[in-house]
Parts: sequence; structure tokens; C-alpha cells
Amino acid sequence: MPTQAGLFTPLRLGALDLPHRVVMAPMTRNRSPGNLANALNATYYAQRAAAALIITEGTAPDAMGRGYIDIPGLYDAAQVAAWRQVTDAVHARGGLIAVQLMHVGRISHPDFLEGATPVAPSAVAAAGAIHTWTGPKPHPVPRALDAAEIPGVIATYARAARLAREAGFDAVEIHGANGYLPNQFLAPNANLRRDAWGGSVEKRARFLLAATDAAIAEIGAGRVGVRLSPGSGFNDIADPEAEATYAHVISALDRRELAWLHVVDARPGFDVPALVAQHYRGAVMLNGGYDGARAEADIAAGRAALVSFGTPFISNPDLPVRLRSGAPLAAADRGTFYGGDARGYVDYPLLDPVLAA
Ligand SMILES: Cc1cc2nc3c(=O)[nH]c(=O)nc-3n(C[C@H](O)[C@H](O)[C@H](O)COP(=O)(O)O)c2cc1C
Repeated sequence: MPTQAGLFTPLRLGALDLPHRVVMAPMTRNRSPGNLANALNATYYAQRAAAALIITEGTAPDAMGRGYIDIPGLYDAAQVAAWRQVTDAVHARGGLIAVQLMHVGRISHPDFLEGATPVAPSAVAAAGAIHTWTGPKPHPVPRALDAAEIPGVIATYARAARLAREAGFDAVEIHGANGYLPNQFLAPNANLRRDAWGGSVEKRARFLLAATDAAIAEIGAGRVGVRLSPGSGFNDIADPEAEATYAHVISALDRRELAWLHVVDARPGFDVPALVAQHYRGAVMLNGGYDGARAEADIAAGRAALVSFGTPFISNPDLPVRLRSGAPLAAADRGTFYGGDARGYVDYPLLDPVLAA
């Protein structure tokens, strides 16, 4: 009789063998000046190598995919070499690490792009402001991508997947969530196109699926995951037919036999796990406000194969050890989430310093 899976049951995830199911969620920390990963970043991730899998902060697959202050990139040789120190440090501690490919599209500013206008499916600015080096500035009206340019943008995901392998990453995650470029294509309020890339659900989904396929062609589906945030309004996304949109997207991803589908469950009143269960047969990674007990319950109920934790991993580098032993969790200092130095980044103590040796 098969025993019921729990948070600490090993899991084969695509091409990866995970020792348990506590994943570190992707988190932008704005500590990579020059868009280059560095030794401090390597220390931070190595401290968290007890995760079953680390998913890095959002990383630009192309220079035009940058937004926010000091986020890392993965589009040139210097960035590959810079990331290598991170992947080596995580592997030396026995961990696994995937890079999250985040093209921000319209959630950027010319200040991050050497004066260039951010690109998006349509010339529709997101409400709100972005924090730049000289303070918050309104999101600019982006430039609508020309249809002839779109295959080139998709090709940046292929290149990034290839560079990820060169940099020693175990996998990549396509960031299709939270209002960035693939999500802008999906959303009818950000995508007003009436060509092959907008209009019907199928056409709105085409960019995300093509970017995913581009990565799969480079490194294989067993090393590619996709992140979605069905129904989320983050970064001024609105989709009145989100259930239909995501039913289509999730079914199409199901056919790709990805390593994982990562789902941010953030919208009250929309049963995202139920929608996913209806349309997806592979490994589902759920995220959003989890503690150990809820993660155990969702895995036991078969709603998730694994669970990712964001904020708890910032302040508890040894989170899996603590969850397993029932030790108390340290609270995170929100003031040091985005940018700064070692403080609030690599100075959260481990429960048992012996494990850090
Ligand atoms: C500081 C911070 C940075 C984040 N950056 C990213 C990111 O780069 N990519 C992403 O997909 N989600 C990002 N998120 C969202 C987290 O991955 C996660 O969905 C969210 O924190 C909810 O999970 P939690 O309740 O376990 O923290 C970020 C969250 C935080 C707190």
C-alpha cells in the first residue's frame, strides 16, 4: 500500500531528484549592481541550500527585460560567469537551484534601459509607480512590440535557458505571473492587439507558450517550470474571464510535461488550486502565505506536490530544518527586503550553527 506523501517525502521533479518538498520561492532582493550576481548573492543562496529547490529572484533574459534597481540578468557571458559562483556555492552545500526568467515588459522605466522605452504587447501604461534610483516614477507608456520583433523576444528565453545551463543552473522557471511581460500578453487590459498575439484566449496565451517552448527546446521540459498567478491583479492586471484564460493556459502547459507548474494562489474567492487540479496532471507547486501545517495538509490532500515559501525563507535560511522539527520561525524585517547590503540579507541566524559549517 503506498504511503501518503508529506512535506518531507522525496520527489522526482522532471529531471531533478528532490529530498523533500519545501521550495524557496523567487524573491527580488535588488542587491546585484550592474545586473551581475555577486559574492554576497552567493552567500545568501548558499545559506538557503537546505531548500528542496531554490528558485532565484526574477532575472532578466534580455537587456530590455530589466526593471527595478539592481536586479540580475542572464543574457551575456559576464552574467554567466557571475551566476556560476552562486550555483557552485549552492551545489557545494548539496542544494539545487533554478533561475527565474523575468522579462518585466511595461513594469520598467527608461532609467533602467539606458533611456529606451519599455516594451509591451500594447501601448498601455500600468497604473502606479516604479521605484527608481531617483525615487518613485509613474510607469511609462510602453512601446507596443511590432509583430516582427516578437520572435526575437521569445528567442531571448531560449538564449537564457542555454546560458542557465552554462552557468550551472539545474532548471529555469518562466515567470508568467504577477503582471510581467508574459502575463501582460495574457491579460485583455494590457494586450489590445488584434493580430496573432492578441484577441482570443489562444492568441493571448501564445507568447507565454512560445517562450516556454523556446526554453524546452534548449534544455528539455524536465528542467523547465512555469509560474502563473491566475486572477491576480498585481501590477494592474485585470482579466474578467480569468477562469477561461487560465483553463486554456493550464491545459496547454499540461501537454508540455513540464518539471513543475508553480501557482501563486492570491485571489480570495477564486479557488485556484481547484482550477489547476481540473486541468493539470503534472507536479503542482503552490505558493502564497503557507506555513508548515497548511503545506502538509495540501500535499496530503493531493492539492500540491510541493509548496514554495517566500517571506519565511528570507528570515529563516534553514526553513526546512525548522519546519521539520517544529522550531519557531523568525520574523522578517520588511525594511530590508528590497535593496541595501548584508543587513536583512545574510545575517539571519541559523537555528543550529553546526549545520552552517
Ligand atoms: C521581497 C519579495 C520579492 C519578490 N520577488 C519576486 C520575484 O522576483 N518573482 C516572483 O515570481 N515573485 C516574487 N515575489 C513573490 C513571492 O515569490 C511569493 O509569491 C510571495 O512572497 C508569497 O509567498 P509567501 O507568503 O510565502 O511569502 C516576491 C516576494 C517578496 C516578499
